[in-house]
Amino acid sequence: MSLLIKNGRIITAVDDYHADLFIENETVSVIGKDLNMEADTVIDATGKYVFPGGVDPHTHLDMPFGGTTSADDFETGTRAAAHGGTTTLIDFAIQTKGESTLAALETWHEKAEGKTAIDYGFHMIVTDMEDDRLWELKKLADEGITSYKLFMAYPGVLYVDDGTIFRAMRKAGEDGTVVCMHAENGIVIDEIVKTALAQGKTAPKYHALTRPTRMEAEGVHRAISIAEVANVPVYIVHLSCADALEQVTLARNRGVPAFAETCPQYLFLDHSYYEQEGFEGAKYVMTPALREKWNQDELWRGLRFGDLQSISTDHCPFCFKEQKELGLNDFSKIPNGAPGVENRMALVYNGGVHAGRISLNKFVELTSTAAAKTFGLFPRKGTIAVDSDADIVVFDPNRKETISVNNPCTHHMAVDYNTYEGIEVTGFPETVISRGKVIVRETEYQGRKGDGQFIKRGLYGGLR
Ligand code: URP
Ligand code: ZN
Ligand code: ZN
Repeated sequence: MSLLIKNGRIITAVDDYHADLFIENETVSVIGKDLNMEADTVIDATGKYVFPGGVDPHTHLDMPFGGTTSADDFETGTRAAAHGGTTTLIDFAIQTKGESTLAALETWHEKAEGKTAIDYGFHMIVTDMEDDRLWELKKLADEGITSYKLFMAYPGVLYVDDGTIFRAMRKAGEDGTVVCMHAENGIVIDEIVKTALAQGKTAPKYHALTRPTRMEAEGVHRAISIAEVANVPVYIVHLSCADALEQVTLARNRGVPAFAETCPQYLFLDHSYYEQEGFEGAKYVMTPALREKWNQDELWRGLRFGDLQSISTDHCPFCFKEQKELGLNDFSKIPNGAPGVENRMALVYNGGVHAGRISLNKFVELTSTAAAKTFGLFPRKGTIAVDSDADIVVFDPNRKETISVNNPCTHHMAVDYNTYEGIEVTGFPETVISRGKVIVRETEYQGRKGDGQFIKRGLYGGLR
């Protein structure tokens, strides 16, 4: 199958030029001016940007959490991602405490195999790691699982103590793998939550009011300090606020290899969303919580000047009806997480490039290239180059859409609300190509369940 994309403006993290792209055997084969080649399919990209497919390094599909399971499985979640211009995602397998991480990997392979619209990989969520299990981490790396997520939050669920963090980090340093950290002091937060509930404070807004930014900053500081002693780079996930960013910046200024991502929810939504009528605030119960609006300018500064490297979604959808409602009378029982996998590229383009905050090259770096480099996918993913996978987004910079689950509907996630409902964006992914196959054409899905493949990721992070 061959494909010719004509007359587009090709943008990578470093390039910006007009050319044609010829694709065959799933990869980019020729890039040149006015290519005159026979192809099975020709796409005219006049007036459009041609971006590398988005790489979202943080999603939770089919995830048992908060007494329920995230609403998107690997079929619906990856199809929605495709609509939004993301062609690779990295999800999380979860080790059951006391059991093998390799068994967990098998379970998650079964959940995903043959179901996805786009390519995918896994990080491993490590929930315990005694010395006699450390060998598994190298075996995981051989299987293409070259990064882990550890949690300082959620005591009694995913939380691990500092000793476990140090053991895993030291081994990661030896193996050349990457540790991702959910950095929030869950032990202190649980005490604050207990006090709030005892005072009858049960509404969704107390989720945010019991999670001070200082407790995120403390987690970030501790994660970086432990990583420094373990002699390994660390990647802070879903960083939400200026206090936490300051810790990353201070460490980087000292020459410590500390890296971080933020998410669209922290760039475009804020604490005021918890003040909505009735139980509506539950839609925004996620961890870390939404912060005061002024933090957003600091996050954009971090993105512009390189202290934040990537934008992921932390897509973890729970339906408002029945799932979020588990916490109707107790905010601590609201499943933590929100949808967003299909909205990331349009939101970041609109709020970043269209609003004049970042360049086109920076947009590609933040939504695709940096994550591909950090997590061992580059240059197969994350750029447009000869021999790279033909994961491409033809993006219309002038197309206006209003994000909505209602009519006209832009929503493809299997969840009954959209966190970004009513936000108008200028710039939208129109045609999406995954390994040379058109899976979305003019916003219509043309792919098939099982088009996506598991990708064994390499060792190198762009972190060293
Ligand atoms: O609220 C969130 N972020 N849910 C997903 C789990 C996590 O902490 O990433
Ligand atoms: Zn987390
Ligand atoms: Zn997450």
